[in-house]
Amino acid sequence: MMKIHEPAKGDYTIAIIGCGVIGTSWAALFSSYGYTVRLWDAAPGWQQRVDAPIAAAKSQLRDLGISGDGRLVYCPTLEAAVAEAGWVQESTPESLDVKRSVFADIGAHAPRAAIIASSTSSFTWTSLAGLVLDPSRLITAHPFNPPHLMPLVEVYAATDLVAAQALGFFRGIGRRPIRLRIDATGHVANRLASALWREAVHIVASGIADVADVDAAVVDGPGLRWSTVGPHMAYHLGGGPGGIRNYLQHLGDSQVRRWADLGSPTLSDDVREAIAKGVEREAAGRSVDVLAHDRDALLIATLRVREALQQ
Ligand SMILES: NC(=O)c1ccc[n+]([C@@H]2O[C@H](COP(=O)([O-])OP(=O)(O)OC[C@H]3O[C@@H](n4cnc5c(N)ncnc54)[C@H](O)[C@@H]3O)[C@@H](O)[C@H]2O)c1
Repeated sequence: MMKIHEPAKGDYTIAIIGCGVIGTSWAALFSSYGYTVRLWDAAPGWQQRVDAPIAAAKSQLRDLGISGDGRLVYCPTLEAAVAEAGWVQESTPESLDVKRSVFADIGAHAPRAAIIASSTSSFTWTSLAGLVLDPSRLITAHPFNPPHLMPLVEVYAATDLVAAQALGFFRGIGRRPIRLRIDATGHVANRLASALWREAVHIVASGIADVADVDAAVVDGPGLRWSTVGPHMAYHLGGGPGGIRNYLQHLGDSQVRRWADLGSPTLSDDVREAIAKGVEREAAGRSVDVLAHDRDALLIATLRVREALQQ
């Protein structure tokens, strides 16, 4: 049986290809866990642009007690970034044409044994497999934004061995990886998020409630509960001492009636405008940077409390 490769952090190089929202956050995380990180981005002047977000994310990780200082190397070419990589985290825009050309370059220059992990949100593993030289080393490793704070990573791999390697790697950097058994569009969490948002848009479009109230209904209602237990466990607890079996017997049919009433909105110009105006009202003049800062502060506080409770 092949041995699962367990990297020693300092001498294990991770390449990040594409250093935007997701790539810079990954870079901060990997480096804060002590890995050497070699970065490449195709945009002119990218080296100046990435300093601030990486520094900010590393500072947030330090607040969480994760303070490794793996080397961050801004590379002059993709080849220089991947040449000695054990892991390549592809984080380029969600375009098959871009990913096709990036995978061709990675295939030409990365070591044959390197894992090639795509951050893709919407492409299936199968749709990417034809773009790489050796699909057995390709995985999808989908983070939740921002990856340096959100523990979830959704992994699809072609073999048990590569899946075990990937799950082990992510656990080693404090993530909570889950493995998809079937290569599904949108992985698990975005399928769930899409189902919820579809209904949220329907509620706004059909006038049941406005954008801010729908957001409040999630954040101060089930969202708060979902940050402690998932939807199945929540109903187990909703079933009293008889748990989920009692819940299904008592209230299962009521769920089916509610499912039958859910909407399936189209994103017409009017609906887009209603959503955009509603969000702008909810933001009340706060910039995206300010909102993201406030979100991150709450995320960090929540992660701290969870960690304290687990000790
Ligand atoms: N933003 C999110 O919430 C989110 C969440 C999870 C996964 N993802 C996935 O992560 C990936 C990256 O998304 P993002 O939001 O960081 O995008 P982004 O636009 O912020 O960053 C993409 C970066 O790739 C660079 N780039 C473009 N072409 C390139 C090329 N040929 N070679 C190297 N770099 C190139 C761009 O200059 C940019 O810096 C996508 O596949 C997306 O689906 C995004």
